Amino acid sequence: MWQLWENRDLPKGPWGLPVLGVFPLLTHYPELTLDRWARKYGPLYSIKLGNQLFVVVSDPGIAKDLMVTKGAVFSDRKDMFIKSQTVFRGRGVTATRYGEMWRKHRRIAFLWLNPKAVDKYTSVLDFEATDMIRALYVDCNNGTTHVNPQTYAGRCSLNNMLTITFGFRTDSVHHPMVKEALRLSREFMNCTGPVSNLVDFVPLLQRLRTPLWNRGERLHRDLVKTYGGLIKGIERKMEDGLTVEECLAKTMIDLREEEELDDEDMAILASAFMIGGVETTASIMQWFTALIPAYPSIQRKAQEELDRVVGRGRLPTLEDEINLPYCHAIIKEVERCHNPFWLGTPHVASEDFVYDRRTIPQGTVVVLNTWTMHHDEKRWEKPMEFNPDRYFDDSLLSSTSSNLPDPYARDNWMFGAGRRICPGMLVAEREIFLAISRMLWAFRMVQILEKSIDLKEYDGKSGRSPVPFEIVLKPRFKGMGMVLERS
Ligand code: HEM
Repeated sequence: MWQLWENRDLPKGPWGLPVLGVFPLLTHYPELTLDRWARKYGPLYSIKLGNQLFVVVSDPGIAKDLMVTKGAVFSDRKDMFIKSQTVFRGRGVTATRYGEMWRKHRRIAFLWLNPKAVDKYTSVLDFEATDMIRALYVDCNNGTTHVNPQTYAGRCSLNNMLTITFGFRTDSVHHPMVKEALRLSREFMNCTGPVSNLVDFVPLLQRLRTPLWNRGERLHRDLVKTYGGLIKGIERKMEDGLTVEECLAKTMIDLREEEELDDEDMAILASAFMIGGVETTASIMQWFTALIPAYPSIQRKAQEELDRVVGRGRLPTLEDEINLPYCHAIIKEVERCHNPFWLGTPHVASEDFVYDRRTIPQGTVVVLNTWTMHHDEKRWEKPMEFNPDRYFDDSLLSSTSSNLPDPYARDNWMFGAGRRICPGMLVAEREIFLAISRMLWAFRMVQILEKSIDLKEYDGKSGRSPVPFEIVLKPRFKGMGMVLERS
């Protein structure tokens, strides 16, 4: 394979070491290294990790040309040793090779993620956002108890996905499912980064029973036990003629024969929802709560908007979103600054393709370098600054913005691109808007002087969420408890 690339007109890129390639340079904050190389080698460059050729795309126009316009060529996935072969066993949509199985599983996932379906369960997202605010309101003790909002955000996202996937929710952060589900998704993120496992790129290592391989196998078993177990429980209830809530698991059981789904298909597709739909949305809420205390004037401006548009007698709703351009802009700016997955889920070229006189051979992994795209000085003035004003006139939802004909006008690239673009965009956006607009409506969020918040360091190896922190939440007005009670 390696030799086949030699002498081909590949996009230029940095040299790496024999066998390892540039792997040792990507073990810590890979997005920053990819950004440095983008400045040196341009918006389309190549790197080698072990036996795998990568092409790194750092420009919206090229991203569109390849992943959207040439979607038939750039929609495959690499059969990663740990993520695809060991943990997901080729299933679960996200890791599946481009083909019939992917189409079938994506179609089934979309039965629960299409706009009409999302409309039906938006009341769930609404309820969970309010429940999170209520819990924070009680636990902050009128601003006297320091709070780490991360677990609350995690449970909010988790409950949304549990309800959509299995038709049940947890009633407190102490419910055993909260700990287990958050552990499983965190373990998944830490075992499966797109450039973090040498074993994915050096086949010889795949013969060794390494601790990482054992972790991957254990994770597979735990996912099947936990989420497959919940599906089995629902199946038993259905067999006994008991009523079960409408949910993805029920849909899969109903379609089992027709779509030829086996137990593993169902358990792993459910796992993809529980992983893809929890750490991601929770991470945006968490970055918001970590950032916003440092910007009292931004908070004040958002709260003036909320007082003017919504008032203090009720919580903001999705219908208010269009009239809350500043709150909407804050969310987009958090997403620009803190994409939970800077490297997304890379695509693979399923045939040779020549772009701008450079060859991208079949089997090349194509990475969207969203860090560089989100910090491009040509588009964003002072891109390292947190400044929601830059999005004030952008009223589009990200799911709409991703379809704009002009790729340079798209708000951000955190949901990926092309035929594999995140199908959960709409759910994610609604969840995030309800949670963040309500936090702004309810609390003044204040830093604790002696406990500074580290906005540089990350928790997690491939997913990005802030390291644990605490803030003060001060309810913004008297009578809030009453509003929350009747909401
Ligand atoms: C802030 C929230 C979210 C972010 C940043 C995010 C990001 C992503 C990214 C980058 C991809 C890969 C796209 C590509 O290949 O180009 C993806 C795929 C996927 N996401 Fe999301 N996601 C989020 C929320 C959700 C939610 C709520 C769900 C609901 C279940 C979900 C389900 C999926 C699935 C099933 C795939 C696989 C698609 C495929 O390979 O065909 N995601 N997501």
